[in-house]
Amino acid sequence: MAKDIVEKIITLFHEQGNSEYGGEPVTQGEHALQTAHLALIEKSSTSLVIASLLHDVGHLLHALPDDAPEQGIDDLHEELGYRFLIKYFTSAVSEPVRLHVAAKRYLCAVEPTYFALLSDPSVISLHLQGGPMSAEECQVFESNYYHKEAIQLRRYDDMAKVPNLAVKPIEFYASLLRKHLK
Ligand SMILES: [Fe+2]
Repeated sequence: MAKDIVEKIITLFHEQGNSEYGGEPVTQGEHALQTAHLALIEKSSTSLVIASLLHDVGHLLHALPDDAPEQGIDDLHEELGYRFLIKYFTSAVSEPVRLHVAAKRYLCAVEPTYFALLSDPSVISLHLQGGPMSAEECQVFESNYYHKEAIQLRRYDDMAKVPNLAVKPIEFYASLLRKHLK
């Protein structure tokens, strides 16, 4: 029998999760599992836990080098991830993923202390992604139904870069992933 999408995602994590996370001290897999872990311990909705787990799935799907931002390339991973996820998951999962880069640009514009929290690779990619939002862009962002979830996801994302943190394996999320399939 053909593998279902949840099994495919688990395989993707095992096969591609060891790739470097663009200059950060954790792998892509560790980063994704830590982001979901933070959403779990903060008692976020289960859809946000899954969005957190899959927010960077676009990085696992493209063939660009891990250090693309340092080469001046925006990999547009949020769009790639969104286009993949929207085929299988509810919008409560796919929309915060689509918006998680916009959330960084938004927070840089509205929260004076936020920029200082960003890692060096995040600052490099911020410039490629358009830098802090203008006031007009902030208004458009706030009109998105899922913008608050995207901001919360972004905060987990920024913290999920701790070397050797013990977290649950991808298999732990299988039933939650199934729960949010369309
Ligand atoms: Fe991330």
